[in-house]
Amino acid sequence: MDFKAQADNLRDELIARRRDFHQHPELGFEEVRTAGIVAEELHRLGLEVQTGVGKTGVVGLLEGDQDGPTILVRADMDALPILEENTFAHASQEAGKMHACGHDGHTAIALGVAKILTGYRDQIRGRIKFVFQPAEEIVKGAKAMVADGVLENPRPDVTLGLHLWNGMPIGRLGVATGPTMAGSTTFRMVITGRGGHAASPQYAVDPVVCAAQIVTAIQSVVSRNVNPLESAVVSVTRMMAGTAYNIIPQEVELWGTIRTFTDSVRDLVERRMQEIGSGIAAAMGCTTRLEVEHNIPPVANDPLVAERLRPVFTRFVGEAGLVEDERTMGSEDVGLFMDGIPGMYFFVGASVPDRTEYYGHHHPRFDFDENALPLSVALMASAVAEYVLPAE
Ligand code: NI
Repeated sequence: MDFKAQADNLRDELIARRRDFHQHPELGFEEVRTAGIVAEELHRLGLEVQTGVGKTGVVGLLEGDQDGPTILVRADMDALPILEENTFAHASQEAGKMHACGHDGHTAIALGVAKILTGYRDQIRGRIKFVFQPAEEIVKGAKAMVADGVLENPRPDVTLGLHLWNGMPIGRLGVATGPTMAGSTTFRMVITGRGGHAASPQYAVDPVVCAAQIVTAIQSVVSRNVNPLESAVVSVTRMMAGTAYNIIPQEVELWGTIRTFTDSVRDLVERRMQEIGSGIAAAMGCTTRLEVEHNIPPVANDPLVAERLRPVFTRFVGEAGLVEDERTMGSEDVGLFMDGIPGMYFFVGASVPDRTEYYGHHHPRFDFDENALPLSVALMASAVAEYVLPAE
């Protein structure tokens, strides 16, 4: 099974597909065109296709001739509300929408993997569930697909996914064991005082001064409460209060995000925010209410899966290509497909080689090295084969 040669043969098709998706970006839950192309191709390959899974999601089941494990391969399809500044011929034709994260590539890659593995149907022991997910950027797509039963009938034994990563050159793979992307929790803290005239603060209880102290003090949670060898982020991103320059408002709202790699650190951060918030508020005569929402769990790579796939990946990039500590406090809802299911989510280096300035993911000039497309197909096909095809 020379997946590298087969993926290289698909090179022009992968690039053409990726560029077509790039020209026609669609935002979360609006991926109608993209999903249509995906469903059509999966049908053409002879897969069992389900559409409308999690609104615009598509699932293709490749059933092997013999029984065995079920492998879920996940690709996300959505774009971002960004006005593209790239000037290449395949730039976005939709004003204000752009594939600025590489999901155009992910969709093309998963279709390429489906095409190659379809050729091995008579040898496959088990089945592959290709999951084309909508709305990753607004972290709602995986949840919607899970609610629509994507993890049942059959339930996957292993989940695999990848992200093109333009922070690393081609030939490098981010293959952390354990947590590789952070879990995300959003919070809203409401600080209540007593409103009044700005010129007579003695008759009011000012929640703005109280909120300012809370914003500053909760920054000590990461530096003073979290173990320095663990990771956490607490960012207050939105403060809302007041209606006029001469009114002390009744309330202040603080919104923000907490990122951690483990639930225990997350619980610690929430508890300390609660204690600091209510302690400062009490001292200032205010009250606080903290509301948290656990949006998505961390993405944690299963040690056994990582161990098993390391030699597979080494065949393509050598030992030196494996970057074991590639982690980000960014979040990804692929973790919902790995909840109780061992899996591996890896990063494929794809930085654009001839650029002098770095434009990261979600930048209006984001791009990736298209040579990473056939490489990604070969990597993913080989990773799946490790579970469902007999060793040569
Ligand atoms: Ni992304």
